[in-house]
Amino acid sequence: MVFYNILDSKKANKIHRIITKAVTKDRIKDKKLFLVGVGPGSSKYLTDLAKDVIRKSKYLIGYKYTLSIIRELIIPHFHQVYEVTMKDQEETYNQVFEKMEENDFCTIPFTGDVNFSESEVVDRLLEIFGNDNVELMPGISSIQVAAAKAKIPLDKAMVISFHVTEDIEDKKRELIKAIQDKKSVILVPRPWNNNTEKNFMQSEIALFLKKEGVDTSSLIAWVFEFLTTAEEKVFKGRLNELEGRDFSPMSVVVVDQVTRKTYLEFE
Ligand SMILES: C[S@@+](CC[C@H](N)C(=O)[O-])C[C@H]1O[C@@H](n2cnc3c(N)ncnc32)[C@H](O)[C@@H]1O
Repeated sequence: MVFYNILDSKKANKIHRIITKAVTKDRIKDKKLFLVGVGPGSSKYLTDLAKDVIRKSKYLIGYKYTLSIIRELIIPHFHQVYEVTMKDQEETYNQVFEKMEENDFCTIPFTGDVNFSESEVVDRLLEIFGNDNVELMPGISSIQVAAAKAKIPLDKAMVISFHVTEDIEDKKRELIKAIQDKKSVILVPRPWNNNTEKNFMQSEIALFLKKEGVDTSSLIAWVFEFLTTAEEKVFKGRLNELEGRDFSPMSVVVVDQVTRKTYLEFE
């Protein structure tokens, strides 16, 4: 048994810090994963930083849509590209993690911003690769583009995603409250293949709010479809006009209750 005096324990702590740093650095070198927001559709919304990590990553894993945003950066015979679906992604993430060697990089592009409405996948990747081996790089979100188009300041709006697998009843209540509090709302609806009961798209949202006593005929609503792409479409009308209308799952809804206040109104 070895007993350390105070000086020794300080020394030991220092050595421990150095070792931990080196080990962590090695692990990062080992299997570095970049989760990169690549914008809502057009490659013009890709940041230079995102392009850099994509170029240096041997492995690229993504859904068809996100891979199409970065297709011009893909270098044949260098990049190993894996197109995944919701069903087979788990297998591919594990397979690539096993394949990666020291100094290999992998990038997974995410639509819009990686930190908005992507956590179900991001959280799993943090588990597989280890928190310290993963770097998140922000991108421009569909909700930012929608906010810009509707001229709604994000800091004064409620931003909400119904595009989640978990129960959305609490979020629905938050939505009612935000509207009653006269806030603008920027939301991503919930498309649900093969289960209309779980759908919470434009029509269901308008009907739900009306049922909850909101005067939907007096509220301004925007719907932005396929933002930043050649198919981009904008609807502007009253919230009750969304009843019975079909919109693409690739859409963002804005309930516009903005009140403008300039610096001239403040001392
Ligand atoms: C899982 S969420 C991901 C959101 C994404 N991380 C973001 O920051 O935009 C997917 C939903 O985002 C919305 N979305 C993403 N890109 C869009 C676009 N180009 N135009 C309209 N809505 C879009 C759609 O509602 C789509 O179903």
